[in-house]
Amino acid sequence: MALVEKWMNTLRTRTVAFIAIIMAVSVTAVACGGGGTTATATPGISPELVADYIHTVMEADRTAYTRHVVSRVNMLEGKENPDGVVPVEATEAWQQGSGIPLPAQMFRLGSEIANEKGYFTYNLISPWYINDSHAPKNDFEQTAMDAVIETGESYKDYQEVGGQQFFSALYPDIAVAEACASCHNTHPVHMERYPDKQFVVDDVMGGVVINIPLEGA
Ligand code: HEC
Repeated sequence: MALVEKWMNTLRTRTVAFIAIIMAVSVTAVACGGGGTTATATPGISPELVADYIHTVMEADRTAYTRHVVSRVNMLEGKENPDGVVPVEATEAWQQGSGIPLPAQMFRLGSEIANEKGYFTYNLISPWYINDSHAPKNDFEQTAMDAVIETGESYKDYQEVGGQQFFSALYPDIAVAEACASCHNTHPVHMERYPDKQFVVDDVMGGVVINIPLEGA
């Protein structure tokens, strides 16, 4: 029995290593694409790094939107601008009046468009979700969310969903400003669902999950 288990472990390690190589080769092929040259197995980019790259861009866009758009029309993220530069409001009900989306809504709208492309998917998740589409959905998301809340660090692993292998990563989403905590703590949905959960600055409020398919994307 122990021998079989050992063999299974070896097989699993090899499969994961093999998938990593395929991934590296396909990233290299994409990087060299267009030139008509044959893709060679030169050192590629690990899926960990690909996830880190994607996450960096998403975080930067969200921060830039918050700092340079939302804070110009509203008081948010610790930046006060009571008169607003343009007469609109960053509000959850942005579609009902002259509003613009909150950063989390902007992030979700972008993810809905990107996910349609079918290259990879990403999403905001949280155990204390206001929007039902942000509930942790599968084993990976549950395990990763618990680990990220405990450590404050990102969590990465391989997973299989519907016969498809993925490299998945969850990055912590932290209450970097008082506004993060206060808006969530006083949101009617939050107060009804999680009356005992009061966020404070620096808390992990949720996470950004990225799923990169490893074969036949
Ligand atoms: C003005 C209110 C407001 C502020 C400020 C705000 N949020 Fe949110 N947040 C929301 C709402 C509303 C949603 C649900 C959006 C949707 O429908 O997609 C949300 C969604 C989220 C989610 C996904 C889980 C969920 O609740 O659906 C996370 C994680 C999150 N916010 C973290 C943050 C962080 C971190 C900050 C500060 C950098 C922040 N929020 C600032 C209102 C706010």
